Amino acid sequence: MKTALIIGATSGIGKELAKLLAVDYDKVIITGRRENLLQEIKATNPSKFEAKVHDVTDLDSCDVLFETLKNEFKTIDLIVYSSGVGDPNYDLTWEKELPTLQTNVIAAVKIYGLAYNLFRKQGYGHLVGISSIASIRGNRHVPAYFASKAFQANYLESLWMKGKRSKAKIYVTDIQPGFVNTSMALGKTFWMASAEKAAKQIYMAIKSKKKKAYVTKRWRLVVFVLKNAPSSLLFKFT
Ligand SMILES: NC(=O)c1ccc[n+]([C@@H]2O[C@H](COP(=O)([O-])OP(=O)(O)OC[C@H]3O[C@@H](n4cnc5c(N)ncnc54)[C@H](OP(=O)(O)O)[C@@H]3O)[C@@H](O)[C@H]2O)c1
Repeated sequence: MKTALIIGATSGIGKELAKLLAVDYDKVIITGRRENLLQEIKATNPSKFEAKVHDVTDLDSCDVLFETLKNEFKTIDLIVYSSGVGDPNYDLTWEKELPTLQTNVIAAVKIYGLAYNLFRKQGYGHLVGISSIASIRGNRHVPAYFASKAFQANYLESLWMKGKRSKAKIYVTDIQPGFVNTSMALGKTFWMASAEKAAKQIYMAIKSKKKKAYVTKRWRLVVFVLKNAPSSLLFKFT
């Protein structure tokens, strides 16, 4: 049985990816805190979707979730960590920075680790993290979010290296989206892709087991500029 798990599938990219995976996988396990949204997705294909209400910042419950899934499904082929939060924080208040660190850094490491060790035990598996183009440079308006995405990108690259050396067949993919039209995007801006289009490109990257993919592909140009722009220039435009 081919099984996929999407952590953070109640809305946006995770939700659209769940719909695509439902075509090719026997079971798609979807998680998130908003039970009503999980149930809406499950209702579209009850035999395919398995819904688990879960808050990734409750770290002990992450162990429980994985133990439960191992008992219920025996193996999981693909695990996608799509959960993420991040708000502008002009006044640098701790209360705004903390949830970003809890979700995008601490919980991400917890889930990445559980996924990697599950794959090591079962002998194979594919872990996909969704970092961001934001991982490339800093941003004075949303500092914790940009730093958290840099952390994710580096952590995923480390796991990719580990996977390459492992006796088990472990693949790791870092997805770096530009702007995607979800609640996280905070309004319309340039080069904004629909969540459907982003999910399609993400699924293509998953199928070809890419190490890293920019979504949409044209963001590769922005990445080139960002990587090479001096801070003095970047400062003027951000
Ligand atoms: N949209 C963009 O422009 C963009 C660009 C680059 C990267 N990304 C990344 O893409 C990923 C998906 O975001 P999105 O754009 O699809 O936004 P979204 O629609 O807001 O989706 C965020 C998902 O994260 C889940 N989540 C948040 N906190 C959680 C928690 N404590 N426990 C479990 N799940 C939690 C949400 O589920 P619940 O609220 O139901 O828990 C939701 O399913 C994020 O990692 C984001 O940083 C987005």
